[in-house]
Parts: sequence; structure tokens; C-alpha cells
Amino acid sequence: MLILGIDTSCDDTAAAIVEDGRKIISSVVSSQDDIHKKYGGIVPELASRRHIELIWPVVTEAMARANVIFDDITAIAVTNGPGLIGSLLIGVCFAKSISFVNQIPLVAVNHLEGHIHAIFLEASPDFPFIALVVSGGHTSLYRVDAFGAYKEIGRTRDDAAGEAYDKVAKLLGFGYPGGPIIDIISLKGDPQAINFPKANLTGSCDFSFSGLKTAVLNYVRKHPEASKEDVSASFQSAVIEVLIERVSEAVKSEGVKRVVLSGGVSANSAFREKMGRRAIKDGIELFLPSLYLCTDNAAMIAAAGYRHFTQGNFAKYDLNPKAYLPLVSAAG
Ligand code: KG4
Ligand code: ZN
Repeated sequence: MLILGIDTSCDDTAAAIVEDGRKIISSVVSSQDDIHKKYGGIVPELASRRHIELIWPVVTEAMARANVIFDDITAIAVTNGPGLIGSLLIGVCFAKSISFVNQIPLVAVNHLEGHIHAIFLEASPDFPFIALVVSGGHTSLYRVDAFGAYKEIGRTRDDAAGEAYDKVAKLLGFGYPGGPIIDIISLKGDPQAINFPKANLTGSCDFSFSGLKTAVLNYVRKHPEASKEDVSASFQSAVIEVLIERVSEAVKSEGVKRVVLSGGVSANSAFREKMGRRAIKDGIELFLPSLYLCTDNAAMIAAAGYRHFTQGNFAKYDLNPKAYLPLVSAAG
């Protein structure tokens, strides 16, 4: 079965062809970083306009690379939320159109469910597992008992970790997206140079990053001479410490020693290394997707879409995108 996945939830236009939910035949991601760079963040209106221009070429490219035509496609899987509403609208309208014209079944995929499914393109973790989705828009922990069975056990109460990375990078005068830049700059800094606050929401698996972001801003205003490398490394160390502590808390509270990481921030080199060491120490089975599967892509949407297809969970043509779309179990 060949699934065409489409994702336009944020600022990347992505399409992929995936076989049986596991094997990537082709995956195309057209980044809009150059457009948004000069604003230090995503400009939603510019993102949706660019999706309109790119959606056909990106889907055509994914099909050409896979050497397939519409007749070969079993189903079309499209992200219908959460994300930027104008961006989502382009992907959903496009997917509905090609589904209708070519009479190909349509399935809707929650973007967070897509991130969690990225790992199935490379590995086969047993259920249950703890899933951390840590990206520019989300920082959430789930207990996953089966395909489609999700229990949220923690979430950010304010900013997402990736958002904090992007905002700190902006205030330090780095480019966009900030995460990969801070990742590299931090290699030259001292992570213990500045003791930034770590929100300690005792007894909970929730996160909070807005206080940390403000603390970095206040520190930089007070100490304009501070080394950017040290500020970056210390900020990153605070984020990573919180992420690892909450994952450990979730492992303990759920009694599940299996963890899957996903989302753009899980591409962070220091986080991967430290989480890896912690997993060995605590006897946790850790699953880390390759870097290109951590950040937004459509292969993960096709992988999740395949499960919906096999469960007969089809979308109708009244499908609409939703900016806010919590990940809930298929049963409700
Ligand atoms: O998953 P993603 O591509 O899109 C969303 O669904 O949000 O995540 C993008 C986020 C951005 O905030 C970006 O700065 C961050 O992931 N990111 C990183 C790294 N690569 C991407 N953060 C830290 N270290 C990285 N290496
Ligand atoms: Zn994402």
C-alpha cells in the first residue's frame, strides 16, 4: 500500500510516499526558512502564500522521485491540525481536491500523532511507550498504549521548548530557526556559566519555558558583555535538564521503561547525548528518530495515515483544518 502524505502545518511544505506505513519511497520538504529568517520568526500570512506556490511542485516532486502516478496511490494522508490555520488550509484543500478528482481515499492525521509515528519508519518499539513531542509548537508527553491510544500525561503551560530556542536565538541576534544555531554555538560555551531557572512543577509532568526565556532576556540586558556562547550553552542546559527530568518522571509514574522522542528539538545533539546517557543509567529503552525525521516532514504523516487507513478511519470532504487539535485516542 502506498500512502501519499502531505503536511503544511507550519512553514515547511512537505510531501512523501510511504509503503505500508514503514518504508519511505520518497520524501520532499521545502523549507521556507529564507523567507522568515529576516523577521526572526514565522510570518503566518507569508507562510500560507508560499504553501500555495509550493504545494503542487512538492507533491509532483515526491511522486516523480517515487516513480508513481495517482493510480498507484492507495490513500492520501493530510495533516488537519494543529498548526497555523492559513497553512493547514492549503494542505487540506489540496488533499481534498486530488482525492476527489482521482477518487483516492482521504485520511486526516493529527500533526502530533505524525511526530510520534516518525519512529515507525526506522524501528518497531513495543507498546506501551512514553512519547515526548518537543517542537516549535508543542512540548507534550503521552503514554501510547497502541496505535491510536494516547493519554496525555504532561504539556507545556506556556511556551514550547522550540519556541524558547527560537526566541532566545532572536534576542542573541542569531538567525531563524534558532534551535540548530544554538545547538552548534553551545558547543563552544560553558553550560554551567549561568544558572538559569528551571521551572519545577512538583508532582506534575508539565513544562514551563516562558520564565526561562525572560530570565535569559533579563540576563543579557544586565550583562551586555556576556559571552553569547555561554548564554546559549547555559540556556540549552536548563531546557535539556527539564526535558530529561520530566521524561524520567513520566517513566516512573507510568511504570513504562520505553521512551520515544520526536519533534524538532529532539534533533538537538546535547539533548540526544544526555538523554541517551540517562536512558542507559536508568535502564530505559530509548528510541530516537534520525534528525530528518525529528523535524517536520510528510513521511511521518503518511506513516500515521497508513494506520488510520487500515483501521477504516477515513475523512470526508467536509474535513476542515483546526489550529487547535488535541491528540486524543481514536475511541475519543
Ligand atoms: O517539529 P518541528 O520541525 O516543527 C514544529 O512542529 O514545530 O520543530 C521546529 C522547532 C524549531 O523551534 C527549531 O528551532 C527546533 O525545532 N529545532 C531545534 C533543533 N532543530 C530544530 N532545537 C534545538 N536543537 C536543534 N538541533
Ligand atoms: Zn511538527
